[in-house]
Amino acid sequence: MERAHFNYPLSIVAEDDPYPTYKWMRDSDPAHYSGAEDVWVLTRYADVAAAFKDWKTWSSQRRGNLLHDIPERIGKTLGTSDPPAHARARGLVDKAFTPKTVEKLKPKIRALAETLAENARGCGGVEFVADISAPFNAAILGAMFGVPDEDFIRLRRWLDDFFLREPAGEGGPSRQVVAMRRLQEYLDSLAACRVADPGDDLMSAMLLAEERGERLSREQVVVTTMTFLTAGFESTNNLFTNLAHALACFPAVFREVRGNAALIPAFVEEGMRWDAAAQGFVRSPTRDVEIHGKIVPRGAQVLLHIGSANRDERRFDRPDAFDMHRPAQRHLGLGLGIHFCVGAALGRAMAQLIFAELLPRAERWEVDTGRAERVRTPNFRGFAKMPLSIG
Ligand code: HEM
Repeated sequence: MERAHFNYPLSIVAEDDPYPTYKWMRDSDPAHYSGAEDVWVLTRYADVAAAFKDWKTWSSQRRGNLLHDIPERIGKTLGTSDPPAHARARGLVDKAFTPKTVEKLKPKIRALAETLAENARGCGGVEFVADISAPFNAAILGAMFGVPDEDFIRLRRWLDDFFLREPAGEGGPSRQVVAMRRLQEYLDSLAACRVADPGDDLMSAMLLAEERGERLSREQVVVTTMTFLTAGFESTNNLFTNLAHALACFPAVFREVRGNAALIPAFVEEGMRWDAAAQGFVRSPTRDVEIHGKIVPRGAQVLLHIGSANRDERRFDRPDAFDMHRPAQRHLGLGLGIHFCVGAALGRAMAQLIFAELLPRAERWEVDTGRAERVRTPNFRGFAKMPLSIG
């Protein structure tokens, strides 16, 4: 493949099949600099994993963890801070968001999944995002944080806009900045209510959690909740739609997992590897780093490319095959190291339970790719619209 003047474009994650390009990058330019986007891109598993683990060299706090991150977010939330601030905040969040939190939610998740799947069977098909993923996420995340369902409908637009990277409009801020401000206002008033009258929700738990005499400030709780809602809503939608898409691409996988529910956890893990919902996160080196004969300068914006690392043939046999039986090999779909996804147990449980309810009710599994629409944000890959027939 001749790509003499290749510049990694941020829009690539929304292409139908960016994986051949990622392979070319791993083989021919594993520490790539895209001048057009001013971003370095690491694409090999070993490099991405090593950078995730070495937070002293690869900072999340210098430039945030999203591409062209919003300056107001930097240093204020888990994903955009380094130790010691990160360790303190993560300790408190881990205390509020325990495996028990997820266990307690499971009956609600299962019941909701059953209702949504039953409705889908009744109609013979659905628009997967509007009919399954969005109401499922809104109800579960809303219940966790005490956000009423009717408010979530209003919040949804801002949750979607939050990850856009559009230029500012004429005389006004960009859509992502407006979204962040609106979410912040809403959550700040919700936090004020929780301070006055704590409930059985994660926001109250974070406001009350104490570690060595310290508490999170109200601003920290607001920004952390915003991270939870945005990360939780978008990542799970992208994961669910990528899994639904994989089932349509591989009818043999659909038949096998439908016939054997014990395979569902392996199906979800392989889906997270094969087509990562979070395609990459940003780090910035605290010193010049030499890698594959190039110098990545201190302070640069570097994308650790999860989507590519998960298909690295240096790590996985037959990486392009969707194989639920591959020997357990750690994929990077949920990150690695100190920033490993806080919501991993919740995301896994939700994905497993929704497919456990949908699969037995599906006679067939067909996505209308002509009418499906991809999400257009540079860090995430998935679908914003996905017509699916199951009956
Ligand atoms: C199931 C789909 C999900 C995927 C694929 C996913 C992916 C990831 C990844 C790759 C990271 C690492 C970010 C980094 O290293 O900079 C991360 C972090 C994070 N995720 Fe998730 N996530 C998912 C679900 C969730 C859910 C359901 C929540 C919350 C309810 C959540 C909340 C977070 C938070 C708060 C962080 C930052 C952790 C830190 O920096 O210490 N995620 N996620």
